Amino acid sequence: MLAPTGELVAAALAGGGAVGAFNVITIEHAEAIVAGAEEARLPVILQISENAVRFHHGRLAPIAAATRAIAAASSVSVALHLDHVESDELLAQAAANGFGSVMYDASRLAYAENVAATSAAVRNCRAQGLWVESELGEIGGKGGAHAKGARTDPGEAAAFVAATGVDALAVAVGSSHAMVTRSARLDHELIARLAAVVPVPLVLHGSSGVPDDELTRAVRGGMAKINIGTALNTAFTGTVRATLGDEPDLIDPRRYLASARVAMAVTVSTALRVLKSGVIP
Ligand code: G3H
Ligand code: ZN
Repeated sequence: MLAPTGELVAAALAGGGAVGAFNVITIEHAEAIVAGAEEARLPVILQISENAVRFHHGRLAPIAAATRAIAAASSVSVALHLDHVESDELLAQAAANGFGSVMYDASRLAYAENVAATSAAVRNCRAQGLWVESELGEIGGKGGAHAKGARTDPGEAAAFVAATGVDALAVAVGSSHAMVTRSARLDHELIARLAAVVPVPLVLHGSSGVPDDELTRAVRGGMAKINIGTALNTAFTGTVRATLGDEPDLIDPRRYLASARVAMAVTVSTALRVLKSGVIP
């Protein structure tokens, strides 16, 4: 069933865990994420990035409609989120295409410009009834929250939230996007300082590169939404490669896509259980 993103994040926080947010590129991704969540009996967020929309020839409607239908048929709560949006044109299409939330990404801008752009985006999102996440990277901006070595300053983060009115904030604490090995080490002392002064839920991006024990600690420290994309692609592509290697004459895509979908679902259910294990016993 469909659920609002804000409600899933709030419920996860209240329970001492975090909600997993997984990136959808193809229909098989959406089916796998929902299957993994159903297997774990836990809620999940399906997110489509601006990059993924670009892959679909710049058209949001077809992949959004398929994803929404898969989410609506689920036996667990599923929220729909538009991820890393930089284009105002795409932002304007969010609610009409069934999304309950958006991550507006002006993190490449300097601090003052990020505040101005994000504040305008928040007004736009409020008019559409959307929950809004945004991102703050290194002090003064210009670097994004997931550039290697970037760190979010707690005082600047608190000021950013007050100035923009966002509902959640992605912060730089040691993860970075598109890591294939799980070798990232997070700055847990910084997570604690951010959680103490930022009055909205914190979001971790680039979580594919973060080992399970680090994720668990981050969730216990207050991270409420955990974004995972690359790990699904690693499972998908690795399985397709192995299947085609084993069966060089195979030509029916359903055969290798079915195996890839199962591999992604296992990745999702495993990750969701880890995030839930952030709960303090
Ligand atoms: O917004 C999406 C995430 O930050 C995914 O990052 O592909 O490195 O897991 P990842
Ligand atoms: Zn991200």
